Amino acid sequence: MEPIPMRKPLIAGNWKMNLDRHAAIVLANAIAEAAEKIGNVEIAICPPFVYLDVVRQALGNSVVALGAQNMSPEPSGAFTGEISAGMLKDVGCKYVILGHSERRHLLGETDAFINTKVHAAIAAGLLPVVCVGELLADREAGKTAAVVGAQLEGSCAGLSPEQMAEVVMAYEPVWAIGTGKVASPEQAEEVHLALRKMISDRYNSQTAERVRIQYGGSVKPSNAAELLSQPNIDGALVGGASLRAEDFLGIVAGVK
Ligand code: 13P
Repeated sequence: MEPIPMRKPLIAGNWKMNLDRHAAIVLANAIAEAAEKIGNVEIAICPPFVYLDVVRQALGNSVVALGAQNMSPEPSGAFTGEISAGMLKDVGCKYVILGHSERRHLLGETDAFINTKVHAAIAAGLLPVVCVGELLADREAGKTAAVVGAQLEGSCAGLSPEQMAEVVMAYEPVWAIGTGKVASPEQAEEVHLALRKMISDRYNSQTAERVRIQYGGSVKPSNAAELLSQPNIDGALVGGASLRAEDFLGIVAGVK
């Protein structure tokens, strides 16, 4: 049997609907410069659509990867306002965030819809970052594992083991996003371990060992190292703290 490669942690900045063109370029330059000295972590930044191209140019041939925050499941056609996977590839994206909780809860995206995007992303050669996470009420009702399990099942339905192994999962408890309330390392690790077990049960242990599972929700330089030291936490998806180079790089430095 072939040895299973180590999972390289992925720290990704989800800039959401923030920054302007100039600030996006300045931030991308600062991250690209610092990333030259970093080898143990993969770094990605996910600007708003309209800045993808200038950020790609700012990154030059830096190791920092580019990601988008969403996409249409459709390849082309009369879909006013939408952006296809092929377009994201064309501007140099490697990753695309799919099923973020803000899209699930503010825009009503369902697991079935997210699943169509996951397939379209993979078909176009993009790596999906599939987000799952429970509401506070789910957690208080003891339903965390059931909720994230159903999201994983629905969002990643129909993927082959090889395709699943390339997917990045992001566990983002909804109650921890943008609230300053971070899941404790133990709370997060428990869910990450449960997700990996579900992938193992659905596919096999080799596939499960290859899937990177990021944590997201109020990650900061001060809490990153402890979260990232957990055995099943393979990086972070960072919102607010990804908008300042110093904070984002402080989180990157938390990977040991
Ligand atoms: P915050 O880091 O601002 O809590 O956002 C997390 C998030 O939603 C990343 O996708």
